[in-house]
Amino acid sequence: MCGIIGYIGEQTAADIILSGLQKLEYRGYDSAGVAIASDGKIERRRCEGKLVKLANLLRDQPLCGTTGIGHTRWATHGRPTEFNAHPHIDCTGALSVVHNGIIENYLKLKQDLIAGGHEFRSQTDTEALAHLIEEEMKIDNDVEKALSRALKKVDGAYAIGVIHKDSPDILLAARKSSPLILGIGDGENFIASDVPAILPYTRSIIYLEDEEIAIISRDKAVVKNLDGETIEKKIEHIEWNPVLAEKGGFPHFMLKEIFEQPQVIRNTIGGRTDEESAKIYLEELGLSVEEAQKLSAIYIVACGTAYYAGMVGKYMLEKLARVHVDVDLASEFRYRAPMVDANTLVIVISQSGETADTLAALREAKSLGAKVIGIVNVKGSSIAREVDGALYIHAGPEIGVASTKAYVAMLIALLLLSLQFGRMRGLVSVPEARRLIHLLKELPRNIETVLSEAADMNWIADRFCECSDFLYLGRGINFPTAMEGSLKLKEISYIHAEAYAAGEMKHGPIALIDRRMPVVAIATKSDTYDKMLSNVQEVIAREGMVIALATTGDEQIKEYTQNVIYVPETEEILSPIINVVPLQLLAYKIAINRGSDVDQPRNLAKSVTVE
Ligand code: F6R
Repeated sequence: MCGIIGYIGEQTAADIILSGLQKLEYRGYDSAGVAIASDGKIERRRCEGKLVKLANLLRDQPLCGTTGIGHTRWATHGRPTEFNAHPHIDCTGALSVVHNGIIENYLKLKQDLIAGGHEFRSQTDTEALAHLIEEEMKIDNDVEKALSRALKKVDGAYAIGVIHKDSPDILLAARKSSPLILGIGDGENFIASDVPAILPYTRSIIYLEDEEIAIISRDKAVVKNLDGETIEKKIEHIEWNPVLAEKGGFPHFMLKEIFEQPQVIRNTIGGRTDEESAKIYLEELGLSVEEAQKLSAIYIVACGTAYYAGMVGKYMLEKLARVHVDVDLASEFRYRAPMVDANTLVIVISQSGETADTLAALREAKSLGAKVIGIVNVKGSSIAREVDGALYIHAGPEIGVASTKAYVAMLIALLLLSLQFGRMRGLVSVPEARRLIHLLKELPRNIETVLSEAADMNWIADRFCECSDFLYLGRGINFPTAMEGSLKLKEISYIHAEAYAAGEMKHGPIALIDRRMPVVAIATKSDTYDKMLSNVQEVIAREGMVIALATTGDEQIKEYTQNVIYVPETEEILSPIINVVPLQLLAYKIAINRGSDVDQPRNLAKSVTVE
């Protein structure tokens, strides 16, 4: 949801900002802009549309200067026009602001500011911030103090960068409920919404907390609270290799990330298992055997793909740990008086660790007394820092807007957790745990097999890419796989796709089936395989077209459809981890056939930091 970056140093700020924005474009790509403070003035370049237009504009009309801010936008307030593109300025153009988040009381602020003579040029909430700081500067002409006072008047979420024409030697930043990091370099410093934007320049990071302001010069970054008191901050070292955030020869990040999945699984498992002793090591969660034994219920709370991972987690936890699990959409959880108390464990799942709804649900659960653990990818993200224990999935930076490798890594983390609880509650024997750990370690090879056969499904993608609707069917632990498969298809190909628990088909969706409706049936070996075959036959009987996902060696399925994608056999509880991979590939290939921009699909953003 919008990416911001700022630079102060000795290099041409616009170049660094542009390259950083390229790494942040996954956060929004409706418009982009840069502002530079130099020679006693602020100069801006802004464009509607993707970053490439801004790059062209900067080539034709370069900006000099070594202090600046930049923004790539995912529109919330105001259409994605140049007028609404950040950076925004105050009435005189003396100061400029970039912002990620939502100023919830901006209408009231705007009314008061207009009444006080301020002139607005955009429809954004952010512009109110620029004028508010301008107004506060009338008191003492001190931009730092004016920013603090202005932020005390603001409700909502913000990560902001501010520059002023009269102070080109400082860059100001602040955050509340939207991510913002400081990058500490040698004679140069940075602000950014996310690590990849500044990785080529530094790996030393300071995470800003809510309601902190950073006053950044070339040589130092001082962090204060809104009352002006200095706060000591720790500099963290980021281990990510910058190459991980590049495409590495693949045409798209999404495809690269799909192909990374075998390695990601190895990373997520890491040193967390010992097959011989059947031990699982998840010390980072700080869960005791006593806590595991007295658990009355678990709530899993997440959004989107992470929510579907949570649905798979429910099956895993209920089967292995015999504890009641509810899975909630984060945006619903906090508005429905959840039955959470000190004996309930809440698990929040988030790739970015910044999803506003998930963060709000985590805070709600904590306020109700629950222990909250997080399954998170991005280290040091807001969710990772606020949970009682974070289980990092180690998927590396996920840049493709449609989540792939993070999903698979989340499933691995959930399986490890389920096994751990099963052992702690005395429900999974040593031989059983050993067997499952062994099968878990075989998954990367199984997925490598699926990936090596990826080209085999090209003809299926070619045959069905013009269809306007798809139905996905799955049962049991693969019902969420159907949901995730259909989400992948709709978000990158813009084809309408729905997912149903296959047993529900006869209760309504069967009415949709005709000869133009492809039905993706997840029919890999499972306890409900025969029932799934019956559903396949029900579709065929109504002239529907079936694309079946089946276990290698299953010839029976060929009696019903020739559109078969085979995957290697595994235990049912692990099957979602393999089954999702061909569905990701199918969605990718169909989207490519239709000419979609798979890494940056329309209307989406990678990190959803607004509620
Ligand atoms: C879909 C997708 C989204 C995210 C959702 C939650 O491909 O990426 O549905 O899964 O926005 O994001 P995180 O996991 O960052 O909380």
